[in-house]
Amino acid sequence: MTRYHPVLVTLHWLLALLIIAALLIGNFALDPIPESDPAKIDALRSHMIGGAVILLLMLVRLVVRLRTEHPPEADIGISALNRIARLAHWALYLLVFALVGSGIAMSVLGGLPPIVFGGSGDPLPVFDELAPRAAHGFFAAALAILILGHIAAAFYHELVRHDGLISRMWFGKRS
Ligand code: HEM
Ligand code: HEM
Repeated sequence: MTRYHPVLVTLHWLLALLIIAALLIGNFALDPIPESDPAKIDALRSHMIGGAVILLLMLVRLVVRLRTEHPPEADIGISALNRIARLAHWALYLLVFALVGSGIAMSVLGGLPPIVFGGSGDPLPVFDELAPRAAHGFFAAALAILILGHIAAAFYHELVRHDGLISRMWFGKRS
């Protein structure tokens, strides 16, 4: 087996785009808008719908990852680093689920659904006063750092070790 399943490949790259966009938009476009600004409700609506789409696609991806054959673990020549790579891949799944989970917790505690989707006209809560807000910010920062490390590792394989790692996460003959 030389490549991941094409459904996993499609989901990997689609989710890479969606997750990186959600991190950038959350940090640079959503967070700076004050709760008193009506534009915050529209920004939250897109953010929450985006988060739900990411959750659904991640669940499908997890099932596909567990049920399909995949290439043997990439060997970087140092067994501790190979182990870190395996842990890092599962940590990427875990952090995305933790991020969505803390987002949903904020939504429930802050009574967001009627305000954001029902047009109730009630004021938004002050997010910094909700306990899961700090966790959401922490998971977002941790995920961003892990993704940067993940991208650096992919390019290290490709450009320094020349082992064609990126082609394992692309379409083509699998055996
Ligand atoms: C993978 C999915 C998600 C990503 C990548 C993401 C990312 C972010 C980021 C980066 C921020 C700003 C954090 C900061 O700068 O410290 C944020 C804030 C927030 N997110 Fe998410 N989020 C996701 C899912 C969700 C979901 C599913 C919900 C609700 C159902 C949600 C609700 C919120 C709320 C209420 C805020 C606070 C806004 C504020 O304090 O102004 N998020 N998110
Ligand atoms: C431009 C950005 C990215 C590049 C260049 C990239 C590259 C790669 C490559 C080459 C592999 C195959 C590794 C192997 O064969 O052992 C891989 C796997 C993986 N990538 Fe990425 N990736 C990117 C973004 C992301 C993002 C944003 C996530 C966030 C969840 C992610 C999560 C994963 C996971 C979990 C795997 C292991 C396969 C699986 O279980 O789905 N990647 N990536």
